[in-house]
Amino acid sequence: MEITEFRRELIEDIVSIHCPGWRDMTLDLRIGKCGYWGDPRVLEWYMEALYAAGGKAVVALSDGRMVGEAEVVPERFLTPVGEHAYLQMVWVKEEARRTGVGRELVSRCAEIARDMGMRHLDTIPTQEAMPFFKNLGFREIDSQVLMEAPARPAPEQPKLEEATRDEFPAAAQMIAGQTRPSSLLWELLWDRESVGLPPPKVVKVRVGLWQLLLAMFRPTREDDHLYALMWGPKRASLGQIFDSAEMAVTLAHDMGVPKVRTQTWCKYRAAFEAAGFEPLSRYKWMRKEI
Ligand SMILES: CC(C)(COP(=O)(O)OP(=O)(O)OC[C@H]1O[C@@H](n2cnc3c(N)ncnc32)[C@H](O)[C@@H]1OP(=O)(O)O)[C@@H](O)C(=O)NCCC(=O)NCCS
Repeated sequence: MEITEFRRELIEDIVSIHCPGWRDMTLDLRIGKCGYWGDPRVLEWYMEALYAAGGKAVVALSDGRMVGEAEVVPERFLTPVGEHAYLQMVWVKEEARRTGVGRELVSRCAEIARDMGMRHLDTIPTQEAMPFFKNLGFREIDSQVLMEAPARPAPEQPKLEEATRDEFPAAAQMIAGQTRPSSLLWELLWDRESVGLPPPKVVKVRVGLWQLLLAMFRPTREDDHLYALMWGPKRASLGQIFDSAEMAVTLAHDMGVPKVRTQTWCKYRAAFEAAGFEPLSRYKWMRKEI
Protein backbone atom coordinates (compact mmCIF):
# COMPACT_ATOMS: atom_id res chain seq x y z
CA MET A 1 0.00 0.00 0.00
CA GLU A 2 1.15 3.50 -0.84
CA ILE A 3 0.10 6.76 0.82
CA THR A 4 0.41 9.88 -1.34
CA GLU A 5 -0.74 13.47 -1.20
CA PHE A 6 -4.07 14.49 -2.68
CA ARG A 7 -4.13 15.54 -6.34
CA ARG A 8 -7.03 17.01 -8.26
CA GLU A 9 -7.19 14.01 -10.65
CA LEU A 10 -8.12 11.81 -7.68
CA ILE A 11 -11.34 13.64 -6.86
CA GLU A 12 -13.79 11.26 -8.56
CA ASP A 13 -12.10 8.25 -6.95
CA ILE A 14 -12.36 9.89 -3.52
CA VAL A 15 -16.06 10.57 -4.06
CA SER A 16 -16.55 6.96 -5.19
CA ILE A 17 -15.11 5.46 -1.97
CA HIS A 18 -17.12 7.81 0.26
CA CYS A 19 -20.33 7.62 -1.67
CA PRO A 20 -20.67 4.56 -3.91
CA GLY A 21 -23.67 5.14 -6.19
CA TRP A 22 -23.33 8.96 -6.11
CA ARG A 23 -23.88 9.13 -9.87
CA ASP A 24 -27.47 7.91 -9.43
CA MET A 25 -28.40 10.46 -6.73
CA THR A 26 -29.47 14.11 -6.93
CA LEU A 27 -26.96 16.67 -5.62
CA ASP A 28 -29.02 17.35 -2.47
CA LEU A 29 -29.38 13.64 -1.78
CA ARG A 30 -25.70 12.80 -2.14
CA ILE A 31 -24.59 15.84 -0.12
CA GLY A 32 -27.18 14.97 2.55
CA LYS A 33 -25.86 11.38 2.68
CA CYS A 34 -22.11 11.87 2.18
CA GLY A 35 -21.47 15.55 2.97
CA TYR A 36 -18.95 17.48 0.86
CA TRP A 37 -17.44 14.09 -0.15
CA GLY A 38 -20.55 13.17 -2.16
CA ASP A 39 -19.98 15.24 -5.30
CA PRO A 40 -16.83 15.98 -7.37
CA ARG A 41 -17.51 19.70 -7.94
CA VAL A 42 -18.35 20.26 -4.27
CA LEU A 43 -15.30 18.23 -3.16
CA GLU A 44 -13.02 20.32 -5.39
CA TRP A 45 -14.35 23.50 -3.78
CA TYR A 46 -14.00 21.86 -0.33
CA MET A 47 -10.36 20.84 -1.00
CA GLU A 48 -9.54 24.42 -2.02
CA ALA A 49 -10.95 25.57 1.34
CA LEU A 50 -9.02 22.83 3.19
CA TYR A 51 -5.70 23.87 1.61
CA ALA A 52 -6.49 27.60 2.08
CA ALA A 53 -6.87 26.83 5.81
CA GLY A 54 -3.40 25.21 5.81
CA GLY A 55 -4.71 21.63 5.70
CA LYS A 56 -3.53 18.60 3.73
CA ALA A 57 -5.24 15.51 2.37
CA VAL A 58 -3.67 12.12 1.67
CA VAL A 59 -4.93 9.01 -0.07
CA ALA A 60 -4.11 5.33 0.31
CA LEU A 61 -3.62 3.34 -2.91
CA SER A 62 -3.38 -0.42 -3.13
CA ASP A 63 -2.22 -1.78 -6.52
CA GLY A 64 -2.96 1.70 -7.88
CA ARG A 65 -6.58 1.58 -6.64
CA MET A 66 -7.90 4.01 -4.06
CA VAL A 67 -8.72 2.38 -0.72
CA GLY A 68 -8.78 5.31 1.70
CA GLU A 69 -8.53 9.05 2.28
CA ALA A 70 -7.65 11.29 5.25
CA GLU A 71 -7.32 15.01 5.98
CA VAL A 72 -5.57 17.04 8.68
CA VAL A 73 -5.88 20.78 9.36
CA PRO A 74 -3.99 22.95 11.89
CA GLU A 75 -6.04 24.89 14.44
CA ARG A 76 -3.96 27.98 15.18
CA PHE A 77 -6.76 30.15 16.56
CA LEU A 78 -8.30 30.36 20.03
CA THR A 79 -10.19 27.29 21.22
CA PRO A 80 -11.18 25.99 24.66
CA VAL A 81 -8.92 22.96 23.99
CA GLY A 82 -5.84 24.92 22.84
CA GLU A 83 -3.76 24.60 19.69
CA HIS A 84 -3.97 21.29 17.85
CA ALA A 85 -4.07 19.62 14.46
CA TYR A 86 -7.54 18.39 13.64
CA LEU A 87 -8.03 15.05 11.94
CA GLN A 88 -10.82 16.16 9.74
CA MET A 89 -11.47 12.89 7.92
CA VAL A 90 -10.36 9.26 7.82
CA TRP A 91 -12.27 7.09 5.42
CA VAL A 92 -11.53 3.59 4.25
CA LYS A 93 -13.38 1.97 1.35
CA GLU A 94 -15.87 -0.48 2.83
CA GLU A 95 -14.30 -3.60 1.25
CA ALA A 96 -10.81 -2.60 2.51
CA ARG A 97 -11.67 -2.06 6.20
CA ARG A 98 -9.95 -3.93 9.06
CA THR A 99 -6.78 -4.45 7.06
CA GLY A 100 -4.69 -1.63 8.58
CA VAL A 101 -5.44 1.14 6.03
CA GLY A 102 -7.04 3.44 8.62
CA ARG A 103 -4.10 3.04 11.01
CA GLU A 104 -1.61 3.94 8.23
CA LEU A 105 -3.62 7.01 7.21
CA VAL A 106 -3.81 8.32 10.79
CA SER A 107 -0.12 7.69 11.28
CA ARG A 108 0.69 9.73 8.12
CA CYS A 109 -1.62 12.53 9.31
CA ALA A 110 0.22 12.55 12.66
CA GLU A 111 3.55 13.00 10.80
CA ILE A 112 2.06 15.87 8.78
CA ALA A 113 0.68 17.43 11.97
CA ARG A 114 4.12 17.27 13.61
CA ASP A 115 5.58 18.99 10.53
CA MET A 116 2.93 21.69 11.04
CA GLY A 117 4.46 22.20 14.49
CA MET A 118 1.57 20.61 16.41
CA ARG A 119 1.81 18.30 19.41
CA HIS A 120 -1.79 17.11 19.57
CA LEU A 121 -3.93 15.36 17.00
CA ASP A 122 -7.65 15.85 17.77
CA THR A 123 -10.88 14.53 16.33
CA ILE A 124 -14.60 14.13 17.08
CA PRO A 125 -15.34 10.51 16.10
CA THR A 126 -18.68 9.06 15.20
CA GLN A 127 -19.97 6.42 17.62
CA GLU A 128 -19.08 3.63 15.15
CA ALA A 129 -15.49 4.82 14.72
CA MET A 130 -14.84 5.20 18.47
CA PRO A 131 -13.26 1.72 18.99
CA PHE A 132 -10.85 2.45 16.12
CA PHE A 133 -9.69 5.75 17.64
CA LYS A 134 -9.42 4.29 21.16
CA ASN A 135 -7.35 1.46 19.73
CA LEU A 136 -5.00 4.06 18.19
CA GLY A 137 -4.51 5.80 21.56
CA PHE A 138 -6.98 8.72 21.34
CA ARG A 139 -8.51 9.78 24.69
CA GLU A 140 -11.51 12.00 25.51
CA ILE A 141 -10.52 15.50 26.69
CA ASP A 142 -13.78 17.46 26.31
CA SER A 143 -17.29 17.08 24.99
CA GLN A 144 -19.77 18.83 22.76
CA VAL A 145 -23.51 18.69 22.33
CA LEU A 146 -25.52 19.05 19.12
CA MET A 147 -28.57 21.22 19.86
CA GLU A 148 -31.66 22.34 17.97
CA ALA A 149 -34.18 25.17 18.49
CA PRO A 150 -37.27 26.39 16.66
CA ALA A 151 -36.86 29.71 14.86
CA ARG A 152 -38.66 32.67 16.45
CA PRO A 153 -38.40 36.45 16.61
CA ALA A 154 -36.51 37.90 19.59
CA PRO A 155 -38.07 40.69 21.67
CA GLU A 156 -35.16 43.02 20.97
CA GLN A 157 -33.27 43.25 17.70
CA PRO A 158 -29.63 44.32 17.90
CA LYS A 159 -28.06 46.02 14.90
CA LEU A 160 -26.72 43.66 12.24
CA GLU A 161 -24.14 44.31 9.57
CA GLU A 162 -23.21 41.87 6.80
CA ALA A 163 -19.67 40.49 7.13
CA THR A 164 -17.34 39.87 4.18
CA ARG A 165 -14.84 37.10 3.45
CA ASP A 166 -11.85 39.19 4.56
CA GLU A 167 -13.33 39.72 8.03
CA PHE A 168 -12.31 36.38 9.57
CA PRO A 169 -12.51 36.94 13.36
CA ALA A 170 -8.94 35.82 14.08
CA ALA A 171 -8.97 37.22 17.63
CA ALA A 172 -12.26 35.57 18.59
CA GLN A 173 -13.05 32.10 19.88
CA MET A 174 -15.79 29.88 18.53
CA ILE A 175 -18.71 29.70 20.90
CA ALA A 176 -20.55 27.21 18.76
CA GLY A 177 -20.02 25.19 15.63
CA GLN A 178 -16.40 24.17 16.23
CA THR A 179 -16.55 20.77 14.60
CA ARG A 180 -13.52 21.68 12.46
CA PRO A 181 -10.77 24.28 12.74
CA SER A 182 -12.12 27.80 12.82
CA SER A 183 -10.38 28.97 9.64
CA LEU A 184 -11.61 25.94 7.64
CA LEU A 185 -15.19 26.58 8.78
CA TRP A 186 -14.74 30.17 7.66
CA GLU A 187 -13.40 29.18 4.21
CA LEU A 188 -16.34 26.80 3.78
CA LEU A 189 -18.83 29.66 4.17
CA TRP A 190 -17.93 31.33 0.89
CA ASP A 191 -18.81 30.59 -2.75
CA ARG A 192 -21.26 27.86 -1.74
CA GLU A 193 -23.64 28.98 -4.50
CA SER A 194 -20.95 28.31 -7.16
CA VAL A 195 -21.16 24.56 -6.41
CA GLY A 196 -24.94 24.41 -6.03
CA LEU A 197 -25.20 24.76 -2.23
CA PRO A 198 -27.53 27.26 -0.51
CA PRO A 199 -25.79 30.60 0.22
CA PRO A 200 -24.92 31.53 3.83
CA LYS A 201 -25.79 34.58 5.88
CA VAL A 202 -22.77 36.00 7.72
CA VAL A 203 -23.35 38.96 10.05
CA LYS A 204 -21.61 41.02 12.70
CA VAL A 205 -23.80 41.69 15.71
CA ARG A 206 -23.01 44.32 18.30
CA VAL A 207 -24.47 43.60 21.75
CA GLY A 208 -23.46 46.35 24.19
CA LEU A 209 -19.67 46.53 24.11
CA TRP A 210 -19.00 43.18 22.53
CA GLN A 211 -19.14 41.94 18.97
CA LEU A 212 -20.38 38.60 17.83
CA LEU A 213 -19.93 37.07 14.41
CA LEU A 214 -22.74 34.79 13.39
CA ALA A 215 -22.81 32.62 10.27
CA MET A 216 -25.81 30.53 9.27
CA PHE A 217 -26.11 28.13 6.37
CA ARG A 218 -28.43 25.41 5.20
CA PRO A 219 -26.44 22.19 4.56
CA THR A 220 -28.62 21.32 1.53
CA ARG A 221 -31.81 22.74 0.02
CA GLU A 222 -33.70 19.76 1.50
CA ASP A 223 -32.82 20.60 5.12
CA ASP A 224 -35.39 22.22 7.40
CA HIS A 225 -32.69 23.82 9.54
CA LEU A 226 -29.89 26.35 9.39
CA TYR A 227 -26.58 25.37 10.95
CA ALA A 228 -25.09 28.15 13.08
CA LEU A 229 -21.44 29.09 13.64
CA MET A 230 -20.68 31.70 16.31
CA TRP A 231 -17.49 33.55 17.13
CA GLY A 232 -17.21 35.78 20.22
CA PRO A 233 -14.73 37.09 22.78
CA LYS A 234 -12.52 34.53 24.52
CA ARG A 235 -14.09 35.15 27.90
CA ALA A 236 -17.71 35.39 26.74
CA SER A 237 -20.12 35.02 29.66
CA LEU A 238 -23.10 32.66 29.62
CA GLY A 239 -25.28 35.79 29.27
CA GLN A 240 -23.46 36.84 26.11
CA ILE A 241 -23.68 33.32 24.74
CA PHE A 242 -27.42 33.38 25.45
CA ASP A 243 -27.63 36.61 23.40
CA SER A 244 -25.83 34.86 20.52
CA ALA A 245 -28.21 31.92 20.66
CA GLU A 246 -31.19 34.32 20.65
CA MET A 247 -29.72 36.05 17.64
CA ALA A 248 -29.39 32.75 15.76
CA VAL A 249 -33.06 31.79 16.24
CA THR A 250 -34.14 35.30 15.26
CA LEU A 251 -32.07 35.26 12.10
CA ALA A 252 -33.51 31.86 11.13
CA HIS A 253 -37.00 33.29 11.66
CA ASP A 254 -36.16 36.26 9.41
CA MET A 255 -34.80 33.88 6.75
CA GLY A 256 -37.97 31.75 6.88
CA VAL A 257 -36.19 28.53 7.97
CA PRO A 258 -38.04 26.64 10.76
CA LYS A 259 -35.11 25.39 12.89
CA VAL A 260 -31.55 26.15 13.96
CA ARG A 261 -28.88 23.60 14.82
CA THR A 262 -25.48 24.02 16.30
CA GLN A 263 -22.88 21.92 18.07
CA THR A 264 -21.43 23.63 21.12
CA TRP A 265 -19.17 22.84 24.06
CA CYS A 266 -21.04 21.14 26.92
CA LYS A 267 -20.03 23.95 29.28
CA TYR A 268 -22.10 26.42 27.20
CA ARG A 269 -25.16 24.16 27.05
CA ALA A 270 -27.22 26.04 29.68
CA ALA A 271 -26.99 29.32 27.74
CA PHE A 272 -28.39 27.62 24.62
CA GLU A 273 -31.11 25.84 26.63
CA ALA A 274 -32.24 29.22 27.97
CA ALA A 275 -32.78 30.30 24.35
CA GLY A 276 -34.94 27.25 23.59
CA PHE A 277 -32.32 24.81 22.26
CA GLU A 278 -32.68 21.13 23.11
CA PRO A 279 -29.90 18.55 22.99
CA LEU A 280 -29.97 16.01 20.12
CA SER A 281 -26.74 14.10 20.74
CA ARG A 282 -23.43 14.27 22.50
CA TYR A 283 -19.94 14.02 20.98
CA LYS A 284 -16.57 13.27 22.54
CA TRP A 285 -13.59 15.42 21.64
CA MET A 286 -10.67 12.98 21.42
CA ARG A 287 -6.93 13.68 21.46
CA LYS A 288 -3.70 11.82 20.83
CA GLU A 289 -0.29 13.21 21.80
CA ILE A 290 2.02 13.10 18.78
C1 LIG B 1 -13.04 3.87 11.14
C2 LIG B 1 -12.23 3.40 9.93
C3 LIG B 1 -11.49 4.61 9.33
C4 LIG B 1 -11.22 2.35 10.39
O1 LIG B 1 -10.38 2.02 9.30
P1 LIG B 1 -9.77 0.55 9.12
O2 LIG B 1 -8.84 0.59 7.97
O3 LIG B 1 -10.87 -0.43 9.04
O4 LIG B 1 -8.99 0.35 10.48
P2 LIG B 1 -7.65 -0.52 10.72
O5 LIG B 1 -7.80 -1.80 9.98
O6 LIG B 1 -6.44 0.29 10.42
O7 LIG B 1 -7.76 -0.76 12.27
C5 LIG B 1 -6.85 -0.26 13.26
C6 LIG B 1 -7.20 -0.88 14.57
O8 LIG B 1 -8.52 -0.45 14.99
C7 LIG B 1 -9.37 -1.59 15.16
N1 LIG B 1 -10.70 -1.30 14.61
C8 LIG B 1 -10.97 -0.76 13.41
N2 LIG B 1 -12.31 -0.64 13.25
C9 LIG B 1 -12.86 -1.15 14.37
C10 LIG B 1 -14.20 -1.32 14.80
N3 LIG B 1 -15.24 -0.95 14.04
N4 LIG B 1 -14.42 -1.90 16.01
C11 LIG B 1 -13.39 -2.29 16.78
N5 LIG B 1 -12.09 -2.13 16.44
C12 LIG B 1 -11.84 -1.58 15.25
C13 LIG B 1 -8.73 -2.72 14.36
O9 LIG B 1 -9.07 -3.95 14.88
C14 LIG B 1 -7.26 -2.39 14.46
O10 LIG B 1 -6.71 -2.92 15.64
P3 LIG B 1 -5.53 -4.01 15.61
O11 LIG B 1 -4.46 -3.41 14.77
O12 LIG B 1 -5.18 -4.12 17.05
O13 LIG B 1 -6.17 -5.19 15.01
C15 LIG B 1 -13.15 2.74 8.85
O14 LIG B 1 -13.95 1.76 9.50
C16 LIG B 1 -14.05 3.71 8.14
O15 LIG B 1 -13.68 4.30 7.13
N6 LIG B 1 -15.29 3.89 8.64
C17 LIG B 1 -16.24 4.80 8.06
C18 LIG B 1 -15.79 6.22 8.19
C19 LIG B 1 -15.59 6.69 9.59
O16 LIG B 1 -16.39 6.40 10.47
N7 LIG B 1 -14.52 7.46 9.75
C20 LIG B 1 -14.22 8.08 10.97
C21 LIG B 1 -14.90 9.38 10.98
S1 LIG B 1 -14.89 10.08 12.57
